[in-house]
Amino acid sequence: MMTEAKINVLLIEDEDFDVRRVRNTIKLFAHRIVIHDVVSSGRAALDLLQTSSSVYDVVIMDFQIAGGLMGENLVREIKRVDPSLQIIVITKMTLNIADYDFAHGLMMAGAFWYCTKYPGDIEEYIYQPTDFILSIVNAYEKKLLERERLTSKGKLIRNVQEILTQRAIIGESTAIKKLREQIEKCASSDAPVLISGSSGTGKEIVAYNIHYTGHRKLENFVPINCGSIPHDLIESELFGYEKGAFTGAEERKLGLFEVADHGTLFLDEVGELPLPAQVKLLRVLQDGEIEKIGRTATKIKVDVRVVAATNKILEEEIEAKRFREDLYYRLNVVQIYLPPLRERTEDIPALFDYYLTQFSADMGKQKPTIDDEAMTVLLSHEWRGNVRELKNVIHRLLFADEPKITRSVFTTALGALWKPMENTIEELNDPTHILPWRQMERKMRETYFRYVRKRSTSDADAAKKLGLAPPNYHRMVKELGIKG
Ligand SMILES: Nc1ncnc2c1ncn2[C@@H]1O[C@H](COP(=O)(O)OP(=O)(O)OP(=O)(O)O)[C@@H](O)[C@H]1O
Ligand SMILES: [Mg+2]
Repeated sequence: MMTEAKINVLLIEDEDFDVRRVRNTIKLFAHRIVIHDVVSSGRAALDLLQTSSSVYDVVIMDFQIAGGLMGENLVREIKRVDPSLQIIVITKMTLNIADYDFAHGLMMAGAFWYCTKYPGDIEEYIYQPTDFILSIVNAYEKKLLERERLTSKGKLIRNVQEILTQRAIIGESTAIKKLREQIEKCASSDAPVLISGSSGTGKEIVAYNIHYTGHRKLENFVPINCGSIPHDLIESELFGYEKGAFTGAEERKLGLFEVADHGTLFLDEVGELPLPAQVKLLRVLQDGEIEKIGRTATKIKVDVRVVAATNKILEEEIEAKRFREDLYYRLNVVQIYLPPLRERTEDIPALFDYYLTQFSADMGKQKPTIDDEAMTVLLSHEWRGNVRELKNVIHRLLFADEPKITRSVFTTALGALWKPMENTIEELNDPTHILPWRQMERKMRETYFRYVRKRSTSDADAAKKLGLAPPNYHRMVKELGIKG
């Protein structure tokens, strides 16, 4: 529908004669089209637009004007100041009216339309008036649409920022720093990503971060938990079906691949995917096309980035023939591994503080303080449930309603989960049989070595954590009889 609001024009024209002709051409429409300002150079136009671009809807500019800044360059500069402004260019008859490259160049620079001005002996008009007026009105309509598109895009971007703030990745350990770099690299590519790590390590928030920092951020992010959907329904969820594909298929169903078109599909717990669905998934990843159940004609092209996550060790699943190796390689183009929390203890205080602050505010409570002893418990606890467990414990701590978190407040909140480190004297030694120092020393070394090895990804990693040169580490491991 056409809006009857006034259309404000900025005219860039350096010849009085042509200014007059433009005014004459639109005179019949003076009730709608208003020449708000006239400037005689590109620079003056930009100065004006920089401070008050919202005043204008349409810019009408002569192609050739004095002052250097003109033509396509000026069009580009104006669009840079305000992309919603629509620009109509008037060119001289001497410029070739049939020159496609000329017209194309102008359009590419961002012009809305161009017309070739009448020869100088036609005094009253610059161009055929109805066409000229119609183009101004159309330019105005386009400007309204453009502004709407830009504001809704702005809103979407603000939503994206909110999603990212809610799923901020906290931590400064080497692992988390590397993770941030990996997410950044993922942003500019469409390569499939496989995120692995045990439960509660942050796989899901990483998937969100990959999507919402990438170039698909304004498109759909579609998560599906492959472990929670009955096996016989997975294929119809992923690929959808045609009406009448089977008894009960009364309507055509969109598959999640279609919903995620141009966006990201997050296959959570991908290790749970049944083998027949794995075969189909592999085909989609290879061909970029889906085969809907009951569709005999052509396949449907989709453009979907796949991010998958698993807390299983997929290599073991492949070994056990529960996961297809070819699919594994397709999904695993970019690998992200999230180490358990106990292997990045330096992140624990920051995570603790972040969620303690957040939950206290949510619950309208004063943020409690934590004493050193409680901090030791925080750092030495196993955190088998990783960050999720940490968050749950913080909730429980706040329910305890203590202004100060002490060791006992903490261990109570941990409840049955609390298991002090294995290397306490009681665990090392049976109090009825006090061991001589030499034996105890050996036992302590052995316990500590086992403790560190359990928390390391490799022998090299354990040696590094213990601050030992690898040859010394291996000698001690052998002496302690930890391994052959
Ligand atoms: N580095 C982190 N910074 C802030 N919050 C985190 C971090 N890692 C995990 N979390 C939080 O911990 C909780 C568990 O994370 P998430 O759901 O992503 O784990 P997951 O690896 O997908 O677990 P599961 O395998 O059980 O599905 C979430 O509430 C998440 O916001
Ligand atoms: Mg998860």
